[in-house]
Amino acid sequence: MLSNVRIGVVGCGYWGPNLIRNFQALTDCQVTVISDVDPARLKHLHGLYRNVEMTTDYRQLVEREDVDAVVVATPVAWHHRIAKSSLLAGKHTFVEKPVGTSSADCIELAEISERNGCVLMAGYTFLYSPAIAKIKQIIDAGDLGEIRYIAARRLNLGLFQRDINVTWDLAPHDLSIILHVMGEYPVSLNCRGSANVTPGIEDVASLNLTFSRQRSAIVHNSWLDPRKTREMTIVGSRRMIVYDDVAVAEKIRVFDARVDHPPHYDTFAEFHYAYHYGDVYAPYIKQEEPLKLECQHFLDCIRMGVQPMTDAHLASGMLRLLEASTVSLRAEGAPVFFDSNAAGAGAGLRVGAKERNGKAHARGGNGTIHLTGRSTLPMAVQSRTTVPE
Ligand SMILES: NC(=O)c1ccc[n+]([C@@H]2O[C@H](COP(=O)([O-])OP(=O)(O)OC[C@H]3O[C@@H](n4cnc5c(N)ncnc54)[C@H](O)[C@@H]3O)[C@@H](O)[C@H]2O)c1
Repeated sequence: MLSNVRIGVVGCGYWGPNLIRNFQALTDCQVTVISDVDPARLKHLHGLYRNVEMTTDYRQLVEREDVDAVVVATPVAWHHRIAKSSLLAGKHTFVEKPVGTSSADCIELAEISERNGCVLMAGYTFLYSPAIAKIKQIIDAGDLGEIRYIAARRLNLGLFQRDINVTWDLAPHDLSIILHVMGEYPVSLNCRGSANVTPGIEDVASLNLTFSRQRSAIVHNSWLDPRKTREMTIVGSRRMIVYDDVAVAEKIRVFDARVDHPPHYDTFAEFHYAYHYGDVYAPYIKQEEPLKLECQHFLDCIRMGVQPMTDAHLASGMLRLLEASTVSLRAEGAPVFFDSNAAGAGAGLRVGAKERNGKAHARGGNGTIHLTGRSTLPMAVQSRTTVPE
């Protein structure tokens, strides 16, 4: 068992320094080396962490003897390449969300990690958040009744990404929470959006997901909104939760509100919906930084040799959703259907009408799209995310 996990962090832009700070604060773990292609970022970090070595070449970092685990927080287009070389070098690997630009790449990483006995973990931070744990606890206790739908809004002004659209950037958080709460993979999704600032890269987009038992979710993401908004409403048959992650206090409020149908009526005059308004309460949530819990979980998984909660299986399922969102966007919002086991790594896939030109999607006669094949999807996002040598 590793008593002191030595970590190398690749990518020190906006998010990487948060990972470095958290790993440095944990016991029995130490950041030994940091890599970024931008020397100015390394100079800045050298000012903060004098004892940590710096390199502009991630390949040097992954090969080092004094690195047990590699943390990847670069732009998404680099995730697969860096994670692959890290896993091939036998290092435990943490990759920020989304784990790459295709589910097929993610499945390849999963296979290498298994072969080399390395932990592969995806950075779906919200699943480590005490607020989400509380929401899940309330739902599992049955307090909400049957979940009917979830509406999520994640909006702000920027930060504009150059290699992915707003859905790939912001929706992974919402999707991870929604799947966690729903407890299942969706049946289908569709996505619409618009590119207002950078041609070809959607900065405003809405996703609609359908689940079994007529349950649904709506996710609205934008880089073109004046206010930073992180809101989610979970509507149950008995109660409703409003989760506001930007709120300093009372991030979660539970509304004892519902609408009941009359059990029986004979004439229209007798028909009335029964609106129930009860108490609103804000449950106690332990104040802990989700990223700290996430970093600790990575270390625990390395020490105990167990699968992380946010493993490659979850990461490839998330990528399937993002791939489907791009297919739907390009098809002007046409729905994309998943097979029941599409969430899994190496997903078994419902073969659509036919494969066209070796491409991995097919449009059904009714204008719908069925994800097919295990290959990467022919999305515009891929042509934008070609990684230079
Ligand atoms: N989990 C979360 O809550 C959360 C929050 C924000 C961002 N993220 C994720 O973190 C990742 C990084 O996002 P960001 O906002 O920090 O991006 P960023 O553009 O601010 O930073 C990326 C850094 O990587 C460096 N870089 C690029 N290519 C490199 C390479 N080949 N080798 C070494 N360094 C390289 C860049 O110079 C830059 O400093 C993304 O995957 C993003 O989705 C996660």
